[in-house]
Amino acid sequence: MKKRVFVSCPLPGDALERLAREHDVAVGAEQVGVRGDAFADGAGTFDAIVSVVTDPIDGALLDRAPRLRVVANVAVGYDNIDVPACASRGITVTNTPGVLTEATADLAFGLLLASARRIAEGDRLVRRGAFDGWRPSSLVGVPVHGATLGVVGLGRIGQAMARRARGFGMRVLYASRTRALAEIERALGAVHMPLDELFEQADVVSLHCPLTPETRGLVSRARLARMKRGAVLVNTARGACVDEAALADALATGPLGAAGLDVFEDEPRVHAPLLALENVVLTPHAGSADRSAREAMAAMAVDSVLAVLAGTRPAHPVGGSAP
Ligand code: NAP
Ligand code: GLV
Repeated sequence: MKKRVFVSCPLPGDALERLAREHDVAVGAEQVGVRGDAFADGAGTFDAIVSVVTDPIDGALLDRAPRLRVVANVAVGYDNIDVPACASRGITVTNTPGVLTEATADLAFGLLLASARRIAEGDRLVRRGAFDGWRPSSLVGVPVHGATLGVVGLGRIGQAMARRARGFGMRVLYASRTRALAEIERALGAVHMPLDELFEQADVVSLHCPLTPETRGLVSRARLARMKRGAVLVNTARGACVDEAALADALATGPLGAAGLDVFEDEPRVHAPLLALENVVLTPHAGSADRSAREAMAAMAVDSVLAVLAGTRPAHPVGGSAP
């Protein structure tokens, strides 16, 4: 029998057509999603939600949707979803791991290069007509080849970042709660160390951990102060892992040399002092934004909904939610 599925917004690829062949689908508007009328009007009728990272799925919303059996997030991160609240109502939560790993690591490495080597700043300089010829001291940046990369969270994306770093002759340090398997450490030449030491030793720190109570504010004023003079911070994880006011200060007055940020504490707002700085490269939460990754994410989320509504186990349930 057909079920009712709310999809936060139009998605790339043919996943929604597949879903609509089996169930009744209501599609919300971009940037509005579960906060709009399309959800509010039918909340009590929906059996499933396909959500995106801008959809807050909390207990109050779940109480308005008593038929829900599954929330399928089109993302690997699921900090927008109250997973225990779903579990206590028997609702399965799923995410889309793996299919966006390489795309996100590509963007993270791009931010590393763009910020360390001042690529975006150079682009702005050329466009405003300020390029008046080669000079020995203009736009001198931080060396990337041979530098030390500190990866916070050596999971799927952190490992993909470390693989890219190896190609640039970089030394790789990492911090995570559990140590990686010896063969992973060997293959990446990665050295495990406590977080504070990593911040002291790395030339570039790149965040690849989820947003959790433990990682919220992980890049604090105190940790930034421990970084090397001229060091670079790359964040493609979640904005709230970083104290943005402290980061802006560390970029303006040291010790940081540059930063590359894809995610922000209060998206889509960006902390105003960051916007005024030349030594930070900003992208609009675009880590997974390559065509094949985005189509695969949509397909995986739809597969999860189809599985749960058919009474079978989805491929990627999130720990703690209903099986
Ligand atoms: P993953 O494979 O689960 O890796 C996350 C890693 O973080 C794990 O190795 C985990 O290891 C580590 N970790 C967890 N808590 C930690 C802590 N307190 N300190 C240090 N490390 C910690 O996840 P993934 O697929 O790589 O994705 C990582 C995150 O990237 C997602 O959660 C999402 O927020 C973000 N992301 C952003 C974009 C974007 O568009 N910018 C795209 C994709 C993903 P331990 O548990 O052993 O500590
Ligand atoms: C995007 O931010 C994701 O977590 O997939």
